[in-house]
Amino acid sequence: MDAEFSKLQGKTAIVTGASSGIGLATARLLAKNGVRVGLVSRSKVVLEELSGTLPGSRALPADMTKIPQVKKMVASAQKEFGRIEILVNNAGQGYDAPVEKTNISTFRYIYDLNVIGPLAAMQAVIPVMRALGGGSIVNISSGTALMHLPGMSPYSSSKRALAGISLAARQELEADHIVVSVVYPYITLTNFEKNTIHALPVPEGTREPGGRYQPDPAEFVAQKIVAGIVSGEAEIFSHDWMKEPRSGA
Ligand SMILES: NC(=O)c1ccc[n+]([C@@H]2O[C@H](COP(=O)([O-])OP(=O)(O)OC[C@H]3O[C@@H](n4cnc5c(N)ncnc54)[C@H](OP(=O)(O)O)[C@@H]3O)[C@@H](O)[C@H]2O)c1
Repeated sequence: MDAEFSKLQGKTAIVTGASSGIGLATARLLAKNGVRVGLVSRSKVVLEELSGTLPGSRALPADMTKIPQVKKMVASAQKEFGRIEILVNNAGQGYDAPVEKTNISTFRYIYDLNVIGPLAAMQAVIPVMRALGGGSIVNISSGTALMHLPGMSPYSSSKRALAGISLAARQELEADHIVVSVVYPYITLTNFEKNTIHALPVPEGTREPGGRYQPDPAEFVAQKIVAGIVSGEAEIFSHDWMKEPRSGA
Protein backbone atom coordinates (compact mmCIF):
# COMPACT_ATOMS: atom_id res chain seq x y z
CA MET A 1 0.00 0.00 0.00
CA ASP A 2 1.34 3.46 -0.93
CA ALA A 3 0.44 6.26 1.52
CA GLU A 4 -0.29 8.70 -1.37
CA PHE A 5 -2.92 6.28 -2.75
CA SER A 6 -4.55 5.26 0.54
CA LYS A 7 -7.86 6.94 -0.30
CA LEU A 8 -8.34 4.45 -3.15
CA GLN A 9 -8.60 1.46 -0.83
CA GLY A 10 -11.88 -0.44 -1.26
CA LYS A 11 -12.79 1.29 -4.52
CA THR A 12 -13.60 -0.45 -7.80
CA ALA A 13 -12.12 0.22 -11.23
CA ILE A 14 -12.28 -0.88 -14.84
CA VAL A 15 -8.92 -0.88 -16.65
CA THR A 16 -9.01 -1.54 -20.39
CA GLY A 17 -5.92 -2.94 -22.08
CA ALA A 18 -5.00 -4.65 -18.80
CA SER A 19 -3.24 -7.62 -20.43
CA SER A 20 -0.07 -5.72 -21.33
CA GLY A 21 2.11 -2.67 -20.85
CA ILE A 22 0.68 0.47 -19.26
CA GLY A 23 -2.74 -1.10 -18.51
CA LEU A 24 -1.15 -4.13 -16.83
CA ALA A 25 1.09 -1.93 -14.67
CA THR A 26 -1.91 0.28 -13.77
CA ALA A 27 -4.08 -2.72 -12.84
CA ARG A 28 -1.27 -4.07 -10.65
CA LEU A 29 -0.72 -0.72 -8.91
CA LEU A 30 -4.45 -0.24 -8.27
CA ALA A 31 -4.81 -3.79 -6.90
CA LYS A 32 -1.75 -3.27 -4.67
CA ASN A 33 -3.59 -0.28 -3.20
CA GLY A 34 -6.75 -2.19 -2.40
CA VAL A 35 -8.78 -1.43 -5.54
CA ARG A 36 -10.92 -4.19 -7.02
CA VAL A 37 -10.11 -4.12 -10.74
CA GLY A 38 -12.14 -5.26 -13.75
CA LEU A 39 -9.46 -6.42 -16.19
CA VAL A 40 -10.40 -5.79 -19.83
CA SER A 41 -8.80 -6.85 -23.11
CA ARG A 42 -9.43 -9.46 -25.80
CA SER A 43 -7.12 -12.04 -24.16
CA LYS A 44 -9.46 -14.02 -21.89
CA VAL A 45 -6.87 -16.56 -20.72
CA VAL A 46 -4.26 -13.89 -19.93
CA LEU A 47 -6.83 -11.90 -17.94
CA GLU A 48 -8.00 -14.96 -16.03
CA GLU A 49 -4.41 -15.80 -15.05
CA LEU A 50 -3.81 -12.19 -14.06
CA SER A 51 -6.97 -12.03 -11.96
CA GLY A 52 -5.58 -14.97 -9.95
CA THR A 53 -2.63 -12.77 -8.95
CA LEU A 54 -4.56 -9.57 -8.16
CA PRO A 55 -6.86 -9.92 -5.13
CA GLY A 56 -10.45 -8.79 -5.76
CA SER A 57 -9.96 -8.46 -9.52
CA ARG A 58 -12.14 -10.00 -12.25
CA ALA A 59 -11.40 -10.88 -15.88
CA LEU A 60 -13.88 -9.04 -18.11
CA PRO A 61 -12.80 -9.94 -21.66
CA ALA A 62 -14.10 -7.59 -24.37
CA ASP A 63 -13.12 -6.26 -27.77
CA MET A 64 -13.25 -2.50 -27.27
CA THR A 65 -14.03 -1.95 -30.97
CA LYS A 66 -17.36 -3.78 -30.54
CA ILE A 67 -19.88 -1.51 -28.82
CA PRO A 68 -22.22 -4.32 -27.63
CA GLN A 69 -19.19 -5.98 -25.97
CA VAL A 70 -18.20 -2.69 -24.32
CA LYS A 71 -21.72 -2.27 -22.90
CA LYS A 72 -21.82 -5.89 -21.74
CA MET A 73 -18.40 -5.53 -20.10
CA VAL A 74 -19.52 -2.48 -18.09
CA ALA A 75 -22.75 -4.26 -17.09
CA SER A 76 -20.70 -7.29 -15.95
CA ALA A 77 -18.40 -5.03 -13.89
CA GLN A 78 -21.43 -3.45 -12.25
CA LYS A 79 -22.89 -6.91 -11.52
CA GLU A 80 -19.59 -8.29 -10.14
CA PHE A 81 -18.63 -5.27 -8.00
CA GLY A 82 -21.99 -3.58 -7.35
CA ARG A 83 -20.35 -0.23 -8.19
CA ILE A 84 -17.85 1.31 -10.62
CA GLU A 85 -15.93 4.28 -9.26
CA ILE A 86 -12.99 4.46 -11.67
CA LEU A 87 -12.63 3.90 -15.43
CA VAL A 88 -9.19 3.87 -17.05
CA ASN A 89 -9.65 3.91 -20.84
CA ASN A 90 -6.22 2.62 -21.81
CA ALA A 91 -6.65 0.02 -24.60
CA GLY A 92 -5.20 1.37 -27.80
CA GLN A 93 -3.04 0.72 -30.82
CA GLY A 94 -0.81 2.69 -33.19
CA TYR A 95 -1.23 3.11 -36.94
CA ASP A 96 1.46 5.01 -38.83
CA ALA A 97 0.82 6.09 -42.40
CA PRO A 98 1.23 9.25 -44.46
CA VAL A 99 -2.13 10.82 -45.29
CA GLU A 100 -1.90 9.79 -48.96
CA LYS A 101 -1.29 6.14 -48.04
CA THR A 102 -3.73 5.90 -45.14
CA ASN A 103 -5.98 2.88 -45.54
CA ILE A 104 -9.50 4.03 -44.71
CA SER A 105 -10.57 0.67 -43.20
CA THR A 106 -7.51 0.56 -40.94
CA PHE A 107 -8.05 4.21 -40.00
CA ARG A 108 -11.66 3.38 -39.05
CA TYR A 109 -10.48 0.43 -36.95
CA ILE A 110 -7.97 2.62 -35.08
CA TYR A 111 -10.66 5.23 -34.43
CA ASP A 112 -13.05 2.48 -33.27
CA LEU A 113 -10.41 1.34 -30.75
CA ASN A 114 -8.78 4.63 -29.71
CA VAL A 115 -11.82 6.94 -29.78
CA ILE A 116 -15.23 5.25 -30.14
CA GLY A 117 -14.57 2.38 -27.69
CA PRO A 118 -13.46 4.77 -24.93
CA LEU A 119 -16.45 7.02 -25.71
CA ALA A 120 -18.84 4.04 -25.42
CA ALA A 121 -17.21 2.97 -22.14
CA MET A 122 -17.64 6.52 -20.78
CA GLN A 123 -21.29 6.55 -21.85
CA ALA A 124 -21.87 3.23 -20.08
CA VAL A 125 -20.19 4.21 -16.78
CA ILE A 126 -21.51 7.78 -16.49
CA PRO A 127 -25.02 6.82 -15.25
CA VAL A 128 -23.48 4.32 -12.80
CA MET A 129 -21.10 6.96 -11.43
CA ARG A 130 -23.80 9.64 -11.33
CA ALA A 131 -25.99 7.32 -9.22
CA LEU A 132 -23.02 6.85 -6.84
CA GLY A 133 -22.56 10.62 -6.53
CA GLY A 134 -19.34 10.75 -8.54
CA GLY A 135 -16.37 8.91 -10.03
CA SER A 136 -13.12 9.20 -11.95
CA ILE A 137 -12.56 8.64 -15.66
CA VAL A 138 -8.98 8.68 -16.92
CA ASN A 139 -8.42 8.47 -20.66
CA ILE A 140 -4.98 7.54 -21.98
CA SER A 141 -4.05 9.77 -24.89
CA SER A 142 -0.45 10.20 -26.10
CA GLY A 143 2.28 12.80 -26.31
CA THR A 144 1.80 12.55 -30.09
CA ALA A 145 -1.62 14.23 -29.61
CA LEU A 146 0.31 17.39 -28.72
CA MET A 147 2.27 17.38 -31.98
CA HIS A 148 1.67 17.09 -35.71
CA LEU A 149 4.02 14.42 -36.92
CA PRO A 150 4.40 13.50 -40.60
CA GLY A 151 3.53 9.82 -41.12
CA MET A 152 1.73 9.50 -37.78
CA SER A 153 -1.52 11.36 -38.36
CA PRO A 154 -3.87 8.33 -38.02
CA TYR A 155 -2.67 7.57 -34.50
CA SER A 156 -1.89 11.09 -33.29
CA SER A 157 -5.21 12.47 -34.54
CA SER A 158 -7.13 9.66 -32.80
CA LYS A 159 -5.36 10.51 -29.54
CA ARG A 160 -6.05 14.22 -30.08
CA ALA A 161 -9.74 13.35 -30.55
CA LEU A 162 -9.74 11.37 -27.31
CA ALA A 163 -8.13 14.29 -25.46
CA GLY A 164 -10.75 16.68 -26.87
CA ILE A 165 -13.61 14.42 -25.82
CA SER A 166 -12.07 14.03 -22.36
CA LEU A 167 -11.70 17.75 -21.68
CA ALA A 168 -15.23 18.55 -22.91
CA ALA A 169 -16.67 15.73 -20.81
CA ARG A 170 -14.75 17.05 -17.80
CA GLN A 171 -16.76 20.26 -17.95
CA GLU A 172 -20.04 18.52 -18.82
CA LEU A 173 -19.77 16.16 -15.84
CA GLU A 174 -18.38 18.55 -13.25
CA ALA A 175 -21.78 19.06 -11.61
CA ASP A 176 -22.12 15.28 -11.21
CA HIS A 177 -18.71 15.09 -9.45
CA ILE A 178 -17.44 12.82 -12.21
CA VAL A 179 -13.84 13.90 -12.76
CA VAL A 180 -12.48 13.30 -16.24
CA SER A 181 -8.71 13.45 -16.82
CA VAL A 182 -6.47 12.84 -19.79
CA VAL A 183 -2.97 11.35 -19.60
CA TYR A 184 -0.29 12.01 -22.22
CA PRO A 185 2.37 9.28 -21.95
CA TYR A 186 5.76 9.72 -23.61
CA ILE A 187 7.43 6.75 -25.38
CA THR A 188 6.96 3.85 -22.98
CA LEU A 189 8.59 0.41 -22.97
CA THR A 190 5.66 -1.88 -23.82
CA ASN A 191 4.48 -3.98 -26.78
CA PHE A 192 3.04 -0.80 -28.33
CA GLU A 193 5.65 -0.41 -31.08
CA LYS A 194 5.49 -4.13 -31.95
CA ASN A 195 1.69 -3.86 -32.22
CA THR A 196 1.70 -0.63 -34.25
CA ILE A 197 0.45 -1.07 -37.82
CA HIS A 198 2.86 0.49 -40.32
CA ALA A 199 1.66 1.38 -43.82
CA LEU A 200 5.26 1.71 -45.00
CA PRO A 201 8.40 -0.23 -44.06
CA VAL A 202 10.14 1.33 -41.09
CA PRO A 203 13.75 2.21 -41.96
CA GLU A 204 16.32 0.60 -39.66
CA GLY A 205 17.05 2.60 -36.51
CA THR A 206 14.37 5.28 -36.96
CA ARG A 207 12.26 3.91 -34.13
CA GLU A 208 15.08 4.05 -31.63
CA PRO A 209 14.30 6.76 -29.09
CA GLY A 210 17.31 9.01 -28.90
CA GLY A 211 18.44 12.44 -27.86
CA ARG A 212 17.83 13.74 -24.38
CA TYR A 213 14.91 11.53 -23.59
CA GLN A 214 14.88 7.83 -22.78
CA PRO A 215 11.67 5.77 -22.92
CA ASP A 216 9.80 5.31 -19.68
CA PRO A 217 8.95 2.02 -17.97
CA ALA A 218 5.21 1.16 -17.93
CA GLU A 219 5.30 1.33 -14.12
CA PHE A 220 6.35 5.00 -14.31
CA VAL A 221 3.26 5.83 -16.41
CA ALA A 222 1.06 3.74 -14.10
CA GLN A 223 2.20 5.90 -11.17
CA LYS A 224 1.17 9.01 -13.14
CA ILE A 225 -2.22 7.50 -13.95
CA VAL A 226 -3.00 6.46 -10.39
CA ALA A 227 -1.73 9.79 -9.04
CA GLY A 228 -4.06 11.43 -11.58
CA ILE A 229 -7.03 9.45 -10.25
CA VAL A 230 -6.22 10.74 -6.76
CA SER A 231 -5.50 14.37 -7.74
CA GLY A 232 -8.23 14.72 -10.37
CA GLU A 233 -5.96 16.93 -12.49
CA ALA A 234 -7.34 17.69 -15.95
CA GLU A 235 -4.19 16.89 -17.93
CA ILE A 236 -1.36 14.65 -16.79
CA PHE A 237 1.93 14.54 -18.69
CA SER A 238 4.63 11.90 -18.34
CA HIS A 239 7.17 14.76 -18.28
CA ASP A 240 6.80 18.48 -17.61
CA TRP A 241 8.64 19.38 -20.81
CA MET A 242 5.74 17.85 -22.78
CA LYS A 243 3.58 20.82 -21.69
CA GLU A 244 5.62 23.14 -23.91
CA PRO A 245 4.02 23.78 -27.30
CA ARG A 246 5.69 21.44 -29.79
CA SER A 247 5.15 20.99 -33.48
CA GLY A 248 7.55 18.14 -34.25
CA ALA A 249 9.33 15.21 -32.63
N1 LIG B 1 3.91 2.72 -25.30
C1 LIG B 1 3.96 3.96 -25.70
O1 LIG B 1 5.01 4.45 -26.14
C2 LIG B 1 2.71 4.83 -25.59
C3 LIG B 1 2.89 6.22 -25.67
C4 LIG B 1 1.77 7.04 -25.58
C5 LIG B 1 0.52 6.48 -25.41
N2 LIG B 1 0.38 5.12 -25.35
C6 LIG B 1 -0.98 4.57 -25.17
O2 LIG B 1 -1.00 3.78 -24.01
C7 LIG B 1 -2.04 2.81 -24.12
C8 LIG B 1 -1.51 1.45 -23.72
O3 LIG B 1 -0.56 1.02 -24.68
P1 LIG B 1 0.73 0.15 -24.30
O4 LIG B 1 1.90 0.98 -24.58
O5 LIG B 1 0.58 -0.47 -22.98
O6 LIG B 1 0.65 -0.93 -25.48
P2 LIG B 1 0.47 -2.52 -25.50
O7 LIG B 1 1.49 -3.15 -24.62
O8 LIG B 1 0.43 -2.88 -26.94
O9 LIG B 1 -0.97 -2.76 -24.83
C9 LIG B 1 -2.16 -2.49 -25.53
C10 LIG B 1 -3.33 -3.04 -24.74
O10 LIG B 1 -4.54 -2.75 -25.46
C11 LIG B 1 -5.29 -3.97 -25.58
N3 LIG B 1 -6.10 -3.97 -26.81
C12 LIG B 1 -5.66 -3.82 -28.09
N4 LIG B 1 -6.68 -3.92 -28.94
C13 LIG B 1 -7.80 -4.15 -28.19
C14 LIG B 1 -9.16 -4.36 -28.50
N5 LIG B 1 -9.62 -4.35 -29.77
N6 LIG B 1 -10.03 -4.55 -27.48
C15 LIG B 1 -9.59 -4.57 -26.19
N7 LIG B 1 -8.31 -4.38 -25.84
C16 LIG B 1 -7.42 -4.18 -26.83
C17 LIG B 1 -4.26 -5.08 -25.60
O11 LIG B 1 -4.83 -6.28 -25.15
P3 LIG B 1 -5.23 -7.56 -26.05
O12 LIG B 1 -4.26 -7.65 -27.18
O13 LIG B 1 -5.13 -8.67 -25.04
O14 LIG B 1 -6.64 -7.31 -26.49
C18 LIG B 1 -3.27 -4.56 -24.58
O15 LIG B 1 -3.68 -4.91 -23.28
C19 LIG B 1 -2.54 2.88 -25.57
O16 LIG B 1 -3.75 3.60 -25.63
C20 LIG B 1 -1.44 3.64 -26.28
O17 LIG B 1 -1.93 4.34 -27.40
C21 LIG B 1 1.45 4.30 -25.42
